[in-house]
Amino acid sequence: MEALLQQIEKYKQEIAAAEANTPEAVEAFRIQYLGTKGLLKTVMGEMKNVPNEHKKAFGQVLNEFKQFVETKFETLQQAAGGGANSASDKSFDWSLPGSFVPVGTRHPLTAVRNQIVSIFKTLGFAIAEGPEIEDDWHNFGAMNLPEDHPARDMQDTFYISQNPAWLLRTHTSSTQARVMESQKPPIRVICPGRVYRNETISARAHCFFHQIEGLYIDENVSFADLKQTLYFFVQEMFGKDVKVRFRPSYFPFTEPSAEMDISCLICDSKGCNVCKHTGWVEILGSGMVHPKVLENFGIDSNKYTGFAFGMGVERICQLKYQVNDLRLYSQNDVRFLKQFTGVV
Ligand code: PHE
Repeated sequence: MEALLQQIEKYKQEIAAAEANTPEAVEAFRIQYLGTKGLLKTVMGEMKNVPNEHKKAFGQVLNEFKQFVETKFETLQQAAGGGANSASDKSFDWSLPGSFVPVGTRHPLTAVRNQIVSIFKTLGFAIAEGPEIEDDWHNFGAMNLPEDHPARDMQDTFYISQNPAWLLRTHTSSTQARVMESQKPPIRVICPGRVYRNETISARAHCFFHQIEGLYIDENVSFADLKQTLYFFVQEMFGKDVKVRFRPSYFPFTEPSAEMDISCLICDSKGCNVCKHTGWVEILGSGMVHPKVLENFGIDSNKYTGFAFGMGVERICQLKYQVNDLRLYSQNDVRFLKQFTGVV
């Protein structure tokens, strides 16, 4: 023990006398005394040989020694130019341009999906997600499309198995079904996600696309609420000057049903391929939730009413960024994707 203390004193003298005038010498000091195989580690290692009754006192000596070495190191560092990154380090050229960090771009569909989601979030809609592989009930049956219902033809379905029927969901209404199954009104959700339909791939159709469907169920929800919500959405998404119109339509899960068109942003309603020379583009389907759908989930249709809507993210993106071919979204062509740099 005595010998050890004397030894430490000796080290202290040696360290106190140490000099280092260059950053390299400071680094050599650090390695010699503070490095993983340095002197401090070795001295610390002696602790295990010290008898128990002296451990406390020796611990204090060790701590002091450690601080002593560290203080010396800092002093040397400052004297030699205050560390490698300090402004006085002449070996470093501070005027050099920073190294370039490549930043990726968000996929336009992700960006537009996020924009749509954040608009509905401001209205208090929560996000719900569900599986892409669905059973017949959640995709069709619960949505008032019993077997052999002709409206099933509207959605060319990819079946995975027949009996029991598993399929790739054709709309995210299936997620709405799952929400109604597990939650009680009031319900206010939007359901973003990928959906699949067996269509020939062309500029206008693809075998998968992305939807955002919305569902709002509470007491006294009316068609006026539906319209106001969707007007708000369109103005937030496309600006105040866009015109909107509703057309009566048919969906098995809503009654009454309506499709919503907006004035064509591609040609300023002058007539083009996208609006088929009508000046109007359909952007979503909507309607008041069919009482049968509510009853399928044990929701009292005398007490509660609701509205639902569904839109394709690709279509919104097309109008917002003038993308004229659906296939571009999934071709991974960087020349296309790069154009969305900075879009969030
Ligand atoms: N589920 C419909 C579709 O995919 C869209 C829709 C949703 C229509 C809700 C009305 C109400 O075509």
